[in-house]
Amino acid sequence: MPMTAIILAAGEGTRMKSRHPKVAHKLLDKPLVWWPVNAARKAGADRIVVVVGHGADEVRAIFANDSDVECVEQAERLGTGHAMMCVQKALGDFHGPTVVLYGDTPLMRAETISNLVEHTKAGHFACTVLTMSPADPTGYGRIKRDAEGNVLAIVEHKDCTPEEQATLTECNSGIYCFCGRRLSENLGKIGNNNAQGEYYLTDMVGIYREMGEPVSALLATDDSELLGVNSRVQLAQVTKIMQRRINGELMASGVTMLDPDQVWVGAEVTVGRDTELLPQTMLWGNTAIGEDCVIGPNTRLTNVTIADGSSLEETVGYDTVIDSGVTVGPRAYLRPGTHLCDGAHVGTHVEIKNSTIGEGSKVPHLSYIGDTTMGSGVNIGAGSITCNYDGVFKHRTSIGDNVFVGSDTMMVAPVSIGDGALVGASSCITRDVPAGALAVERNDQVMIEGYATERMAKLQEQKARSERERA
Ligand code: UD1
Ligand code: CA
Repeated sequence: MPMTAIILAAGEGTRMKSRHPKVAHKLLDKPLVWWPVNAARKAGADRIVVVVGHGADEVRAIFANDSDVECVEQAERLGTGHAMMCVQKALGDFHGPTVVLYGDTPLMRAETISNLVEHTKAGHFACTVLTMSPADPTGYGRIKRDAEGNVLAIVEHKDCTPEEQATLTECNSGIYCFCGRRLSENLGKIGNNNAQGEYYLTDMVGIYREMGEPVSALLATDDSELLGVNSRVQLAQVTKIMQRRINGELMASGVTMLDPDQVWVGAEVTVGRDTELLPQTMLWGNTAIGEDCVIGPNTRLTNVTIADGSSLEETVGYDTVIDSGVTVGPRAYLRPGTHLCDGAHVGTHVEIKNSTIGEGSKVPHLSYIGDTTMGSGVNIGAGSITCNYDGVFKHRTSIGDNVFVGSDTMMVAPVSIGDGALVGASSCITRDVPAGALAVERNDQVMIEGYATERMAKLQEQKARSERERA
């Protein structure tokens, strides 16, 4: 039977005090709602439906490139039961195990979803409720059981008597697995005659109970998976838990961290064995780091691929490919389209954009290299830059193999420098340099013997005179 996951994410989240819908706020590098969607994906969901409402367009945009995610709009937020009715209306009846998750509950693990589904299938239950026993159950729906321990109903906190509020401590996590067929047939029975005038999905449990359909409750093994985010303080707490979870898995797989509390790694990042992540390192997007690398301190990489044995210190990088044995930084900026080939070196205060730096080539100090193809074995002197922009168009610079560019050279693109050429320091290169040539562009050096000594003597004399006059 195909499995469906429905992620409820229509709520506003007023306590976030934000112009954006709550579930669009980021946990590490992904929006809150992305996490339960991904957990459902990893648990093998065949169909993933996100119920959007508040800020619907912004939430839809999160999944614009995910063909496996469908969004259904709940225009009016009339309760969790109503949200499910909107899905049925938009997409037709439910089939197979149908899991309900919340968009603001990002720590849910795929294994927990799988267990919930297996439990429901094995017992042929109409519904299994995932439950928890939090230290403070205020606000949660309470699980009511009969003398034999069978689940009778879920009663919302606001609909409980004071005695029930005090004694019923097992709570509804809001996460369920339903049998799709029976849910389709009976969802319409939910009414809104309760304290909040809402259609409660929780009412399904009591409805099934009266019909004699088997219902089950499964106590969660790790309550932290059920933490919801209602405020920015809770967002920070959940972020800390996710950071520890991800970093714990990385360390277990052979990654070293000087201080895991100061390393942030996104959901889809991979890091190889014996790589060391130093403090204040952030790795986002589809960054993939090989083995035996040293990354950080103070480094932020987004969509950067690095082969084995490279080191990056105090570097910011986006959409960059780095081969093996490369050294970067401290204080380098690698912009989209950068490719650093094996053994290349990019040093301090260097910016590279949309350029290939060939094997073993070096750009060690204070340079900007943009829109450039550079061969192997090149040395770029300190302070040299490519002038790639004429105010309207970008132009390319081509540098051959084994070129030596002296310090403070301007290469005004479009321009090319042939293999093995030598460019004298402080040249402004505006014409192509043939292979093996020397190019120098600077005035002859003027020399006047004794000039500096005489000038200094004159100035000292002037100073002494004016001091005497003032006295
Ligand atoms: C719900 C449960 C409660 C449970 C608690 C756990 C109901 C009636 N109650 O209460 O038993 O203990 O979760 O956190 O289900 N949503 C929609 N559309 C709506 C209403 C809600 O998409 O019309 C979404 C919200 O964005 C949120 C989730 O459903 O992600 C839960 O809604 P909320 O109103 O916060 O339910 P609770 O009062 O917390
Ligand atoms: Ca010059």
